[in-house]
This record gives sequence, C-alpha cells and structure tokens, in this order.
Amino acid sequence: MPRRSILLYPDPRLRMPSAPVDDFDADLASLVQDLVDTLHGTATGIGISAPQVGDLRRVLVMDLTNDRNGPEVYVNPEILSRSTPGLVEESCLSIPGVVGNVVRSTELRVRALDRHGAPFERALTGMHAVCLQHELDHLDGKLFIDRLSLLRRIGFRLKRALGAAS
Ligand code: NI
Repeated sequence: MPRRSILLYPDPRLRMPSAPVDDFDADLASLVQDLVDTLHGTATGIGISAPQVGDLRRVLVMDLTNDRNGPEVYVNPEILSRSTPGLVEESCLSIPGVVGNVVRSTELRVRALDRHGAPFERALTGMHAVCLQHELDHLDGKLFIDRLSLLRRIGFRLKRALGAAS
C-alpha cells in the first residue's frame, strides 16, 4: 500500500480544520491504510493525522506498540473527559527537529468511530492519551508548537529566521 508524503511546517494546509467523515467508502479505507503505512514508514512516529498527508478529513492513526503492528484508527474522535494535566515532551512528523514541553492530560476518555463507522469508547493513559490529543489538535489545524511557552516560541521563530532549524 502506498505511503503518502508528509506535509511539513509551515505548509498552510496544516492550519486548516478537517471535516467530519460521513462516507465510510473505499476512499476512506485507502486513506486509513495509507495513514497506517505512512506512519509505519517513519523512523519513530507514533501517530499521524489525515491533514498531515493533505487530506482534510477527521481521521487519525496511532501505533504505540513496540513492534509497530497494532495500529489504532480513530474517525471523528471526541474527547469525553480528561484529567491529570502534566508536562510532556512532544515532537511532530511535520516539524522535524523540534522538541518541546507541552501541558497535556495524561488520562482521558475518547469516543470515535472505527474505519467501518462503528462507534467505540476507550480510556487512554500516558503517552497514549498525549498522542491522541496531539493528533486531535491536527484535525483542528493546531500544532504542538502553538502550545509551547512564549519564550520557547520566540526561540523557535528566531532559530527559523536564522536558518538554524533543519
Ligand atoms: Ni504532529
């Protein structure tokens, strides 16, 4: 199955909100499979969202298994409840070379549809919960760098302006 190329910051499509999925058709099935393949094609990625491959549908995929053979698909995900905020280190496939600390809930409950349109609910903790929030942000056109402290954001812009960011 084909891997798709991952859009890189500051591609304007990363800033656009994605639309809910209504059609669980063959086109959605290939998007889901391509997202899984694209994620597994990266060296260290644990999650990817449809807008990162230029498709503005509310779909995200995560795989936090060690041998990367347990992809989870979330279509139209919604966070039902969250608790226990903590400071966690994040990076993003669309912003290579940048790592930063972000405040995220480390426990949450999510509702979504699977790739066939069947609803499910799941409790997530730790990196699982953090990853879901990061990918859900992508569906709203938000990036983790938006959540960095002001000082860190200024440093990031400065680095880019000086051409130091890779
Ligand atoms: Ni990301």
